[in-house]
Amino acid sequence: MASSEQPRAQWLGRWGFLLAATGSAVGLGNVWKFPYMTGEYGGGAFVLVYLICILAVGVPVMMAEIAFGRRGQGSPVDAFRRMATGSGRSPAWSVLGWMSMLAGFMILSFYVVVAGWSFSYLWKTLSGGLSGGSVDELAAVFEANNANPWNLGFWSTLVTLVTMVIVGKGVQEGIEKSVRWMMPGLVLMLVVLIGFGALSGGFGEAFAFLFSFNTGSLSSAGMLAALGHAFFTLSLAAGAILTYGSYLPKTASIGRTTLGVALADTLVALMAGLAIFPVIFANGMDPAGGPGLIFMSLPVAFQAMPLGSLFGALFFIMLSMAALTSSISMVEATVSWLCDNKGFTRRSAAWSTGIVLWLISTAAMLSFNVGADWTLAGKTFFDWLDYLTSRWLMPLGGLGTIFVAGFLLNKNVMRDELGLGPRFYALWLLMARYVSPLGILVIFADVLGLYSVVFAQHWPYLLGVLLLMILVGERLSPRLRQALAPR
Ligand code: TRP
Repeated sequence: MASSEQPRAQWLGRWGFLLAATGSAVGLGNVWKFPYMTGEYGGGAFVLVYLICILAVGVPVMMAEIAFGRRGQGSPVDAFRRMATGSGRSPAWSVLGWMSMLAGFMILSFYVVVAGWSFSYLWKTLSGGLSGGSVDELAAVFEANNANPWNLGFWSTLVTLVTMVIVGKGVQEGIEKSVRWMMPGLVLMLVVLIGFGALSGGFGEAFAFLFSFNTGSLSSAGMLAALGHAFFTLSLAAGAILTYGSYLPKTASIGRTTLGVALADTLVALMAGLAIFPVIFANGMDPAGGPGLIFMSLPVAFQAMPLGSLFGALFFIMLSMAALTSSISMVEATVSWLCDNKGFTRRSAAWSTGIVLWLISTAAMLSFNVGADWTLAGKTFFDWLDYLTSRWLMPLGGLGTIFVAGFLLNKNVMRDELGLGPRFYALWLLMARYVSPLGILVIFADVLGLYSVVFAQHWPYLLGVLLLMILVGERLSPRLRQALAPR
């Protein structure tokens, strides 16, 4: 293996992993998706379920991913194979690594298009191209921006280029150096924007909207969306966190680091809400504006306010940086695989990955203009990338990871690698074996159209199912192990 010739790169600073993994987690998901989902699903109740999903499903899966990366010392494919064979399991489990690399690639292919929106809106704000007094006018601007493939393609190509330049420079020189200033900068800008929101007069209303847990507005669709988003926002099951974990020094505590990343990610999402909703409410706009919320409603509000274009620019710089620190993490798995197994240098790996990515993302970009009616079952190529990753690849990959970690590995492997005390280890095991898988299975039940049949009105029954799973699982698991053991 080529990786044995050279010691694997490691994060340079104590904060290297934390900043990079938080950079991966904090992205368009936090600033673009979370606010509009909260708006759509009714505010505080959605936020509460989302927080529970982060803790109960996201954190245990993320811990397993980091542990696999650090112990497997390689790209997802190599790490899964080494973890499995190390416990006498089949090397075929590396299929989970292939799946996560594929997922990362597919997510990035549509992610750069949305990041391109952000870059282009930054440009529009600076060049005065964002004028228009109403949401309708801004909606027309949004449409015009999408309608020209050369324009939209220019911006997504730019995002791809910047991503590849950073990744090509390496783990320390490229990724770590860039997140070291982008992440603090992002938080600083968010704080300024929240201050701006506080002065706009809609702060009280925004606060109440985000934090009053009115359970009456809790719908099953909202709960499911919260669950899926917990996966997306933590960058799980796409190879990114695992590969970053492979550069984590042995001395770092995985439990504490994971909680740090999850907490920072959640705080940024809530802060984004506190920056956006006051402006929306102060201008009497609808918080349920959907995916266009920050591109249509927000610019109108910015124009109506003193210093609005300054804050508008600040907002889109912040969003673009959040997107970049995520996009660099999505290619790292593939780049590391090419370097370890195919003898590529980092630079050539980054550019080769970039070219393939550019081709796929260009196809995704065309879904907004010339390819708008290249649909299959009513979905454009862009929609398919989103649907396949968020509904299938990520949940499946998460389920596989947690299954291998919870049931298949030799007893001490995860205990040693996680470095938790006995109580916390037992808690992690309970989560990893039952709570997270149940959450993931619920996503699948929904995809297959079974969710509404079984649970829609009766979601408290899920607790009963959980108990049953624990009882059966704990009785069965020695046998389960035997059944799956090599002859
Ligand atoms: N977490 C990112 C965000 O919130 C998006 C994302 C999803 C991602 N899956 C990923 C980023 C995998 C990197 C790797 O915007």
